[in-house]
Amino acid sequence: MLHETKRCAGPIDAAMDAPAAAVFSARRSVQAPPLNLPAGFRPNTRLKMDGLDFLSALPGAAIPVAFFDPQYRGVLEKLSYGNEGKTRGTRRCALEQMSEAVIGRFLRGIDRALMPSGHLFLWVDKFHLCQGVRPWLDGTALDIVDLVTWDKGTIGMGYRTRRRAEYCVVLQKQPRKAKGVWKTHNIPDVVQEQVSRRDHPHAKPVDLQGDLMAAVSHEGDFAIDPAAGSFSVLQAAQNRRRTFLGCDLNG
Ligand SMILES: C[S@@+](CC[C@H](N)C(=O)[O-])C[C@H]1O[C@@H](n2cnc3c(N)ncnc32)[C@H](O)[C@@H]1O
Repeated sequence: MLHETKRCAGPIDAAMDAPAAAVFSARRSVQAPPLNLPAGFRPNTRLKMDGLDFLSALPGAAIPVAFFDPQYRGVLEKLSYGNEGKTRGTRRCALEQMSEAVIGRFLRGIDRALMPSGHLFLWVDKFHLCQGVRPWLDGTALDIVDLVTWDKGTIGMGYRTRRRAEYCVVLQKQPRKAKGVWKTHNIPDVVQEQVSRRDHPHAKPVDLQGDLMAAVSHEGDFAIDPAAGSFSVLQAAQNRRRTFLGCDLNG
């Protein structure tokens, strides 16, 4: 793994040492409420079901951390190179694609499931980052609070520059605050981590997702992913001693 999260001394550390004025801390003071799992929802397994059904079965305001990596229909529609599904992108084309309306429904379901000040890590590509994801959040209590760039270390397609990065938008359910909620301060906003795409064409970095989840949860807390693909978030949760709950249409 190229991923590294070296702790860097600097203004952040200085601010952390100034308790009265600091807006963030290295302590997490919020606790997730106890969760009564719906029937058939076995933690730390690969559930095969529709993510919208999964979300609507979860109790409201109970989950501290969620990941969502939509299967973007827009990429195929707007960035067509003419050979998708034929000579390239065949595995991607075989997956169920999500329209913007479906993505909005997922986001409203996640918003409902998150506890107050809970976090959502939303994966986006360059196209959707530039188009803007803000309208998808209409009708939710989710605010954009940060952005992490994932440098995949491998070069992809592009009409002009070629894609090497994807982006993780950090969202927080209101009330928006870092202090007492986000407890680690050594995650850089550009992270290089190489990932095998053998199991899934969209697999995301396990270590980075583990670092993010650990920053906003306690050991044992639930982390959900309603469209889990290769179940990289399950792996991240196991590595960081969190409890995974998630599904994919393909299990
Ligand atoms: C971009 S991939 C997720 C990749 C994942 N983050 C990983 O690290 O492997 C999106 C996934 O959403 C799944 N999917 C599409 N529609 C779905 C739905 N309605 N419910 C659950 N999963 C769905 C697809 O099968 C696909 O595996």
